Formats: sequence, structure tokens, C-alpha cells
Amino acid sequence: MAIVYNEKTGIFTLNTKNTTYQMAVDKYGTLLHQYYGIRILGEDLNSLFVKNDRGFSPNPHEAGIDRTYSLDTLLQEFSGYGDGDYRLPSICLVNGDGSYAFCGRVSGHRIYHGKYTVEKMPYLQEQDGDTVDTVEIYLTDKVTGVDVTLLYGVFEEKDVITRAVRITNHGTKKIVLEKAMSVMLDFIDSDYDFIHFGGRHAMEHEYHRQPVSYGIQSIGSTRGYSSHQHNPCAILCERGATEESGDCYGFILEYSGNFLCEVEKTQFRQMRLNMGIHSQQFRWNLEVGDVFHTPEVIMTYTDKGLTSLTHKFHDVLRSNLYRGKFMNQLRPVLLNSWEAVYFDFNEEKLLEIAKASLNMGTELFVVDDGWFTNRNSDRSGLGDWEVDLEKLPHGLGWLSEQVHQMGLKFGIWIEPEMVSQKSQLYKDHPNWAYMIPGRSPVQGREQLVLDLSREDVRDYLVEKMNHIIETSKADYVKWDANRHLCDVFSDRIYENRQGEILHRYILGLYDIMDRIILTHPNVLFEGCSGGGGRFDAGMLYYQPQIWGSDDTDAIARLKIQYGLSFVYPSQCIGSHVSVCPNHQTGRTVPLRTRAITAMHGTFGFELDPALLSEEEKTMCQEYAKIYKANAAIMLEGDYYRLSNPYEQNAYTAWMHVSKDKTKAVVSMVRTESQGNALIYYVKLKGLKNDAMYELQDGRRFSGAALRKYGLPITWDIKEYEAMQYYLHQVK
Ligand code: DGJ
Repeated sequence: MAIVYNEKTGIFTLNTKNTTYQMAVDKYGTLLHQYYGIRILGEDLNSLFVKNDRGFSPNPHEAGIDRTYSLDTLLQEFSGYGDGDYRLPSICLVNGDGSYAFCGRVSGHRIYHGKYTVEKMPYLQEQDGDTVDTVEIYLTDKVTGVDVTLLYGVFEEKDVITRAVRITNHGTKKIVLEKAMSVMLDFIDSDYDFIHFGGRHAMEHEYHRQPVSYGIQSIGSTRGYSSHQHNPCAILCERGATEESGDCYGFILEYSGNFLCEVEKTQFRQMRLNMGIHSQQFRWNLEVGDVFHTPEVIMTYTDKGLTSLTHKFHDVLRSNLYRGKFMNQLRPVLLNSWEAVYFDFNEEKLLEIAKASLNMGTELFVVDDGWFTNRNSDRSGLGDWEVDLEKLPHGLGWLSEQVHQMGLKFGIWIEPEMVSQKSQLYKDHPNWAYMIPGRSPVQGREQLVLDLSREDVRDYLVEKMNHIIETSKADYVKWDANRHLCDVFSDRIYENRQGEILHRYILGLYDIMDRIILTHPNVLFEGCSGGGGRFDAGMLYYQPQIWGSDDTDAIARLKIQYGLSFVYPSQCIGSHVSVCPNHQTGRTVPLRTRAITAMHGTFGFELDPALLSEEEKTMCQEYAKIYKANAAIMLEGDYYRLSNPYEQNAYTAWMHVSKDKTKAVVSMVRTESQGNALIYYVKLKGLKNDAMYELQDGRRFSGAALRKYGLPITWDIKEYEAMQYYLHQVK
């Protein structure tokens, strides 16, 4: 059992292979946080913590005249409200009598083998070979009867602990939740850097690393989706932590909606991290007997730097999150029609592209946006989902058959959550879209968001989408969502419940994905929200890959994919070769660089083959072969960042190494030309020092030498050019 409770000392010890997490119930029933770090020997660390009488840090009633006991200074597991802890709270609620207070004291616990579940939301599940244990700890407010259950799932071999919270109203009056975090983690010190990822549409997942500074720093989304602007994950690492060394704590929220991650450096230079649903426009009514579930957070810790943190995250996301069968399967090389033709196509053109793509190593042909009625631009048509017989006179089923007959799989684009005001659906059901009565709705790509908190809307979408998938005999579906939520008001929900809609929207989304995606286990789904606007672990529960960004420029992608790599495995990142000059940046980059960059993710094409020469098509075929030949290393192996594109302007390099360290692929892109150019030797990682590796040209080097000197970006590689080394162990 990875979880031990000591009755005498009141200490909970959670052990994973390399880490220990320790909590203690103190004499007043407060649940203290005592330790999270490298594995210790089970000792009680409580006597290490110095307690002082601190001015303006009040003492709870139970402490009597003991002025050294203050919830304002103790490290805790869940911070209540109105109990004298002025740091960031885990919860904020309004009781039936109007008071703002939650004072939770431990009233019991339960330890069991296996993993707890999270109702109606994604959560990690144990797989064969995993040892997973759970502890539930109950905190009760004796005055109101409100219960908070803290859930800890311990994935022993994976060095992962998951956290979630259940709040139950066992009182006699309704309460209203205004804040309910999934995780709180207190630290005794604060000499850490806060690493997070975010940017903007077409330049998302940028890497940001800032020292934790006095006060509060936060990232989050209030846009209804996890967003391009901030990704729902964060890392706290020691100031000097590098890829190879230093304490690192990582947090991934398995949620696709509004989120908040806040880090506070306190008056006594302690640190607190909170993560969960954003509290802006969140007001959840909890009637007597009702339960509220927060989304789950995946936590890991390592003392071995950022690469080790990445490996732990990649391993657990690859094996314990996604519900389908595709995660560790080789994905088909696809050709997507979007950048090839946008809305301007007909049956003949699509079939011409599909046919031409056969000579490029393509295995799946995807018809992106524009196949349905009233959709010749992004100004209309969403919602009706009837095939446009002017563009596709024989229908989707026929088109799909033709593509199948060519030996290709067939894929289709959908955007279920939206409606255009210029659509029949909107005419028939204007109240199905979010709008505030008396106000004109805010426009975003001239489309509105459907109210997924409504069951009738969800039923409509499930029926429509399942029909499209079945009649088109789709092997692949791209699920897009191209605006954020505004005017969030539902006429199905009582006035005083409007603060529930943003979360109910996400619950509705998960419900329709349960009923559409999980009922088509043989269809590969790819998530998308104007690129990576909803690139989160909540979506990865349903979809094994997500389109990384609408920016397909290989050089921009280096930074985008670098940011994603910290948390998300390569097989989750949709990445395609497109034409040059690039449609987003206007940059021209050699085909080989575009291909090597796309090999970091689920390799594919997004271009009109008619624009390629025969030689280029043959090159594409070669790249598809290389991708497939090395895919196993990428799907199952370890990922190493060999440079930081935010610090090193001259090149970007990364490598994938098989778990047994016998094979590796090293990718390098020169990103800056120099007069009398410097030769960069890129030091390799993850190889066995005492093994001999052979490169594709027959040269042999030991792992030790490759670690010390690395491999050069050769002289012939000019700006924006790329190269790959393939290594296999020979001795
Ligand atoms: C945004 C996506 O990111 C693109 O790849 C494309 O599918 C368009 N939407 C279609 O409207």
C-alpha cells in the first residue's frame, strides 16, 4: 500500500517510487501539509516547523491563549475561509445565513486500493501494471455541516499524485460556492521560478519563466475554454533548475474551461499554489444534499530537473488518461484540405488532391471546413450540418467511398458547439445560443456558441454528429471550436444560477463527447480550437491528438512545440507540412525543415499537391517513410529538449530516445545565419554512456562521447535548414 496512516501521530504518508507526500492531522483537527519531495524515511517532520507569535496573524478559538498557532502561517492542505488564513483560499462559499466561512477540521478518512473517480469529468485511471491507491480525507465544518473531501490518487510507479475535491452540503440550508480549487500546495520557502505557457491565436504555448515574487502571480482563462492565452498547466522549479537538475513540481489541470492557477509568495516568504476552475463568474448553488466535484489535477515532483518532469508527465498522459485505443498507435499520415483549398472546392478538386496525395505517402484524406450548406466563407452555415450538394453532388458517403477506393482513409471536419446567425438552426432556435436578453450578442467569427448546458441542444448535436460520422463512414474527425464564450446566459437556467453556466457548458461538452466520441471507438478524433486554443488534458481524455496551432510555419512551430513538449507527448501534437511562402507568416523554409518539424508531432500535410513538383512529392513520400520508421521511438520513447529557442537564437534541437536507449532520432534546425558561421555541437542526452551507437552514415560513437561533444550542425546547413541524425546501438 502506497498510503500509510499512523493513528498515533495522525500522519498520512503517500509514497511513490521516488517521492513522498506527507500530511498530518494536528491537535485541533487541521490538516497540515508537511512534505512533498524526494522520498524520505517516514519520519514526522512536524517538529522542524518553527511556530512564533506573529502580529496580525490571528489564532483560532480552539488555540485558546496559544498565540503561536495561526492558520495564517501553517502549511496546510486546504485553506478554508474566514478562519484567519489570509493567504489565497481553496474555497470561498456563502452559507445559508449569509456568512462567508468554511472551517474544515478532519472528521475521518478512507484509504483503499484503486483510483477514485470524478463524476462527469476526465480523470486518470489505472492501467494493467499500475499500483494505484487512494486516500479520501474528510474535512467538516461543524457549524454548517458542509463537508469537503480531499481526494489523493497515488500512482506509485509513475511518481504521480492526482488531486480532486468533492464538496457536499450536509447542512440544513442551501450554500453558494464562489471558489472551489482542485489543488492547493503550500511550500515552506519560495525561491522558485514559475514556468507557464501561453500566447495568442497562431502563436500559443510560448514558454514563460519568471521568479516567484512577493505577492500573487496568476495565469488563467475566463474565455470559456482553456485558451490560447494560457495553458492549464504550470511548473514550479528551484531558481537554478535546469533540464537535468533541480527540484521541479508540475501541475496539469484536466479541464477544458475557465481555469485559474495562482501562486502567492507570502509575508513570511512561504509559497502557496492553487489550481482549479476560475472563480470569475463562478457561483455554484449547492442545495442540501448536493455534491460539487472539482476537476482533477495531476501532480508530479522530481529532483532531477525539467526533463525528468517531462518524462513523468508524458508517461502518465500516454497511459492513464485517454479513453480510446489510438494513443500509442501509429497515426496515419494525413493530408488536410484546409490550407490547400480553404472553402473553395468541389468534388473534382477534392478527389484530385486525394489522388495526388497518394504519391506523397498519405494514408488519410481529410475534408476540412466548407463541405456543408451555406459555407463558402466563415460567415455562415454552422449549425445545420447538411452536405452542400452544389459542391459535393454525390454526397459525403460517395466521396468517402471514392477516397476509400483509392486506398486512403477518409476524414471530416466538424464544429459542433457553434451556430452561425445565418443558419436555419439559429432561425428555428435563437435561444439555443448564448445571448443576454435585451443585448446584442458579441460577435466572434460571426458565430455564436450553443448553450451546451441544455439537454435538448446536446441531444440535437449528438444526433447530428453521429449521423455525419456514420453516413460519411469517417475514419477520422477533426473537432474544432473557433470562438470564445461571451454573453453567457441561459434561458433554461434560473436567474440565480447563471454563475453555473460556464462550468455546465464544459460538463455539457464532456457529455456530448462521451456520446459522440466514445461511441465511435474506431474513429480517430483530433481536437482543435483555432489551433491550440483548447490544448488541455481534459480534451486529451477523449482525443489523442490536438492541432497544435493555426501557425504552420516551421520556424514559429519550433517555439510552439517546444512549449508544448514540457507537458504533452509528441503523439498528442497535430503538426503538418504546408506550402511556402507560409500562409501565416509569409516565411519560406525548405521542405525538409517543414517535414522534420512536423515529425515532432503527428506528421501530415496541409497543402495542394498541385503546387508541388514531382521531386517535392517524392521527397514528401520519403519524409512520410522516415516518420513512420521512427514513430515507435516517438510514441513510446523519451523526449529531450536539446536547446531552448528562447535563449539560443542560432538553432533549435530535440531528440526522441527509445525507452531501452538503443535507438534515437536527433532533429536540428538552424534558425539564424551567421557570417563565418559558428559550428554548434549539440550535446545528446538520454543515451547509455557505455554503449556504442552507429549513425546513418556508419560512423560510430560512444554514448559518453555523444554526451560530451554531441553532434554538429554541419557547415552546409544554412538558415532555416534542418538535419536529422538516426542512431542505433551496435555494442
Ligand atoms: C481553425 C482550424 O484551426 C483550422 O485548421 C481550420 O480547421 C479552420 N478552423 C476551419 O475553419
